[in-house]
Amino acid sequence: MEKIVIRGGKPLKGEIEISGMKNAALPIIFGCLLVKDSCIIENLPDIDDVRVALTILKDMGATVNKLSENVFMIDATAARSGSSSVELVRKIRASYYLLGAEIGRYGKAHVGVPGGCDFGIRPIDQHIKGFEALGCKVRMDGGYVELAAPNGLHGSSIFFDLVSVGATMNVMLAAVCTPGLTVIENAAREPHIVDLANFLNTCGGQISGAGTDTIKVKGVDTLHGCTYAIIPDMIEAGTYMMAAAATKGELKITNVIPRHLESITAKLCEMGVDVTEGDDYVVVKSGKRMTRVNVKTQPYPGFPTDMQPQMAVLMCLADGISQLNESVFDNRFRYTEELMRMGALIKVNGKVAMIEGIPALRPARVRAVDLRAGAAMVIAGLATRGTTEIDNIHLIERGYDDLVGKLRACGADIERVEERNI
Ligand code: UD1
Repeated sequence: MEKIVIRGGKPLKGEIEISGMKNAALPIIFGCLLVKDSCIIENLPDIDDVRVALTILKDMGATVNKLSENVFMIDATAARSGSSSVELVRKIRASYYLLGAEIGRYGKAHVGVPGGCDFGIRPIDQHIKGFEALGCKVRMDGGYVELAAPNGLHGSSIFFDLVSVGATMNVMLAAVCTPGLTVIENAAREPHIVDLANFLNTCGGQISGAGTDTIKVKGVDTLHGCTYAIIPDMIEAGTYMMAAAATKGELKITNVIPRHLESITAKLCEMGVDVTEGDDYVVVKSGKRMTRVNVKTQPYPGFPTDMQPQMAVLMCLADGISQLNESVFDNRFRYTEELMRMGALIKVNGKVAMIEGIPALRPARVRAVDLRAGAAMVIAGLATRGTTEIDNIHLIERGYDDLVGKLRACGADIERVEERNI
């Protein structure tokens, strides 16, 4: 059992370099399955989800070699269809991208039902709607999703019922080598959608409109290898921006695309935090108590649901009553119970949390209930005088590259401790 121990109450000061984006790296890794050639992927974050995704491809017969720090060569020429390990697939949500990649490569797919963070029911009906439009027959049986295309695949028009990051990328993967034109409407517009399109286009794909709500995919015969660098992780950057604000510190956060952070920057400014933007960095500085704010999560360019728990910590410490409205997922407030152990005053009613700010939280033993909720507990611990212990940290390590090391370098008294069962 590992835990994170934080002796908090010290302002963070210094510089943090942001790693590659988890939610771009994962679809791009699975996208390599479409390429019968070697792809060199740079700026891959050193996180558990990436290790799982690379192992899944390796188990399927792909060659995966680490070339240097954060740079991997992936050659999926020899990968076999339908051969992914169901245990590994269950470990990460992003394994659903195997469905799109396998259809695109083999014209069929056989993949275990994906796992991931528990935010309530997470259906994949929109992914399936997209695959069916391309000519797939879908069967869900015994914990597996099975796709077949008895009459072949063809380009098609798909209008999603809701904006889904996963469904948009999955249909892009399925369509890139499918004959004809596929038009995806009501598409998600997240920066990672653009990154996946850029990767596939660098391999010879013909995708236009990524970053808008209409994406056009003109099917090509084959994709070729390439060298591609993953964009910086806006959620990792946002997490450190909030850590700086919560600890009344000053952090320069480098290797970011400030435009991707605008919804986060805007809310921090509204709370009275100073944010200065450079070309590829932001500086976040805070000295006084933050003021209350209302936040509603939305698909990009709205405020990201993946920053919702971290924002809740700032609201716990702000002056006044804040309203936090989760409009993307049904059940993403489970972590509030953990914050309440630290003295937070939070009332949750369905998808809305009312948070009454207090001058300070008190230290406690808490747990990460999911990846971003775990990051929120770290921010709470950093901002709180005394010793906070966080359990279940494997969930944090799924998505944060060297969180403890990066924070220690900025003056945090934080350590990862192995605890033996007695
Ligand atoms: C991805 C991210 C996750 C992030 C989320 C929203 C990965 C691996 N995960 O998750 O970190 O929090 O985007 O930015 O990249 N929905 C359906 N049917 C579907 C698909 C989605 O009803 O077929 C619903 C979901 O339950 C949710 C909403 O649509 O309420 C948005 O989900 P989606 O954008 O698809 O998120 P994920 O791809 O699961």
